[in-house]
Amino acid sequence: MERTLMIIKPDAVRDGHIGDILQRVEKEGFQIRAMRMLRLEQSEAEDFYGVHREKPFFESLVKYMISGKIIVAALFRENAVEYWRKVIGNTNPEKSEEGTIRKLFGKSIESNAVHGSDSLTNGQKETDFFFEPFEYLT
Ligand code: CMP
Repeated sequence: MERTLMIIKPDAVRDGHIGDILQRVEKEGFQIRAMRMLRLEQSEAEDFYGVHREKPFFESLVKYMISGKIIVAALFRENAVEYWRKVIGNTNPEKSEEGTIRKLFGKSIESNAVHGSDSLTNGQKETDFFFEPFEYLT
């Protein structure tokens, strides 16, 4: 089955939206096979967002992502990558459709509440960035 990495980002954790977001995850039919709360080290955030290293927002993004606790989870479902991206909405909450998680809880294009992998390959790579094989439970 396909998988995607979900991150509940620091702003959404600080604002008390963990429960709302996990409820939505279950309602949309995802299986949570691995999940953890953690605070990223700067080097880990730089590594995870390595593809954005040359972007003007990279430094600010890393600072934001290490600013507080996050939840990471491996979500499994048919068509998980595309489906989760639909549920969370556009990167920019202002452009997200009504009812999407970023529209509901996002504050800005950077503080956009949640993450979802953008391809099948990244779904594998990003979940494996956070979880060892033995941590996936069925
Ligand atoms: P996400 O798609 O989860 O992963 C990359 C993150 O970079 C994205 O969410 C935003 O948090 C951030 N990001 C993307 N584009 C911009 C931008 N133009 N300005 C600031 N942050 C951005």
